[in-house]
Amino acid sequence: MKGIILAGGSGTRLYPITYAGNKHLMPIYNKPMIYYSLSILMLSKIRDILIITTPEDLHRYKKLLGDGRHIGINIEYREQAKPRGLAEAFIIGEDFIGEDSVCLILGDNILYGSGLTEFLLKAKEEVNNRGGGMVFGQYVMDPERYGVVEFDKDGDVKRIIEKPKNPPSNYAVIGLYFYDNHVIEIAKNTKPSWRGELEITDVNNEYLRKKRLNVKLLPRGTAWFDAGTHESLLETSNFIEAIENRMGLMVGCIEEIAYRNGWISKGDLLKLAESLMKTEYGRYLKRIGEEF
Ligand code: DAU
Repeated sequence: MKGIILAGGSGTRLYPITYAGNKHLMPIYNKPMIYYSLSILMLSKIRDILIITTPEDLHRYKKLLGDGRHIGINIEYREQAKPRGLAEAFIIGEDFIGEDSVCLILGDNILYGSGLTEFLLKAKEEVNNRGGGMVFGQYVMDPERYGVVEFDKDGDVKRIIEKPKNPPSNYAVIGLYFYDNHVIEIAKNTKPSWRGELEITDVNNEYLRKKRLNVKLLPRGTAWFDAGTHESLLETSNFIEAIENRMGLMVGCIEEIAYRNGWISKGDLLKLAESLMKTEYGRYLKRIGEEF
C-alpha cells in the first residue's frame, strides 16, 4: 500500500498565521504538524509516501523531510496548483500509486490512542485483502464542520454528507482513508461540487453505492483532532504537551517510529539526535536510542 499526505490548501481558516507559510509546517507543540500525519502512515508500515502541496511550499517540505532515507522511507513530492479538492490527490498521485492500494491522510489530522497501531494495520490488511474502501467515524460535538455519516433505521450507513447544515448524526468522517486501486478511476469520474472541489465525500458515496465502503467507528480510546482552526491548533498542542510530559514518550516522533519499526539502526538514530541536542527533541531521541 502507498501513502499520500495532502498538505496543500490555502489555510485561510488559520489567517494570519498561514498568510506567509503553509499550515502543515506550523507547530503542534514541539514538532511540525506534518510529523503527526506522517507518523500515522509510518505506524501503518507504509514506506512509499507522496506529499502533495502547493508549488510555493514544496521546497520547504523537501528541506524538512528530503527523500525520507534518514527515517527509512521513500518520499516523493507533487504539486497541487490550486486547492481543487481532496479527491484530486488520487489524480495527481496516479502514477505514484500505480497498481497499488492507497492510504490518504490529511496533513492537518492528528490521531492518538491506545491500540492505534494495531487498528491501522488491521484496516490496511482488510483493504489489501478484500478491496473496497475504509473510512472512520468519530463522535464530535460540531459535526457540521465535517463529512457526516447518515445511518438508516437499522444502523447501516446510508450516505455521507459534506458539511451539512442539519447534521443527521454526530459522527464525523475523519481525514484518514484507505482504498483499493479503483479510487483513481472513481476520483477521475467525480465532478466538482458547488464549492468547486472534487470532494472525498463523493468518492466515499460512490464506494457506498457499490457496497464497497466499510465505515468503522473509532474506538473510544482514540483522540482525533483536525488542527484547522485557531482553537483546535491550540487545543491539539495542549493535548500533545500533556500526554508527552505525563508519559515521558513523544507522540508523532518520526525518527523514533523509524527506529522501532527497524527501518533505521541505533547508530542512525543517535546520529540524528546529535544535530538536535540543543532541544528536548534531540535529547529524547538519544534517550530512546540508549534505552531501547
Ligand atoms: O478533517 C476531516 C474532514 O476533512 C472531513 O470530515 C471532510 O469530509 C473533508 O472534506 C475534510 O474537510 P475540511 O473542511 O477539513 O477540508 P479542508 O478543505 O480544510 O482540507 C483538509 C486538508 O487538506 C487541509 O489540511 C488542506 C488540505 N487540502 C485541502 C484541499 C481542499 C489540500 O491539500 N488540497 C485541497 O485541494
